[in-house]
Amino acid sequence: MARRKFIAGNWKMNKTPDESRELAAGIRKALEGYDKADVAVCPPFVCLAAAGEALKGSNILLGAQNIYWEKSGAFTGEVSPGMLVASGCKAVIVGHSERRQFFGETDETVNKRLKAGLANKLKVIVCVGELLSERQTNVTEQVVKKQVEGGLAGITPAEMAEVTIAYEPVWAIGTGLTASPQQAQEVHAFIRALLRQKFGAGTADAVRIQYGGSVKADNAAKLLEQPDIDGALVGGASLVAGDFAQIVKAGG
Ligand code: PGA
Repeated sequence: MARRKFIAGNWKMNKTPDESRELAAGIRKALEGYDKADVAVCPPFVCLAAAGEALKGSNILLGAQNIYWEKSGAFTGEVSPGMLVASGCKAVIVGHSERRQFFGETDETVNKRLKAGLANKLKVIVCVGELLSERQTNVTEQVVKKQVEGGLAGITPAEMAEVTIAYEPVWAIGTGLTASPQQAQEVHAFIRALLRQKFGAGTADAVRIQYGGSVKADNAAKLLEQPDIDGALVGGASLVAGDFAQIVKAGG
């Protein structure tokens, strides 16, 4: 089944509002007239409005890097689904490994964030991936299985239509070490097989699985040509408009 590629830029904790407006405008310009992939950019919360202004009327989706599951109230430092929607967000990343590693996210909280995003009609990118020590001890599949099953607990096949999985081996994030296209493909195929068991073949064939971890303009094409790699979640290289646009276009 031909799945439309989906490339998302995760800006992490980079860029001020003014810089975000400029970067978003640059990406928009660099992708003018290109319509062969879905594209999202995910600036920091305080930059959503500025980036959103620059993207208005384009096909580039505005996304956030996290979401909380309560509607409002005494949750200092958190941002509600309604706030994201009102800020123009159409997508959100949940369960990024940096959130798991530095901010105590668990499969359970990732699942709550996913459900909150879906309930608010956001496209949700759920990140999974093993640590270097886990790959070295050959437990990659167990780790990824637990994250996929825990993260997607209670989700229906119909809801899965709005979900994208991002496979991001933690050892490849920001390190310049990319998983080889074969290494990535193996895990992507494994994830798709899990989705098939859990949701059925139709859903599993339709869900997009992005690869993330040191995706650059010069390695994107080889990754994106793998049968089960349906896009990329791009960190560092998404901060340069021209590089990000090249990655988007590398998918065909
Ligand atoms: P990177 O980050 O492209 O800088 O490795 C990817 C990510 O963490 O989403």
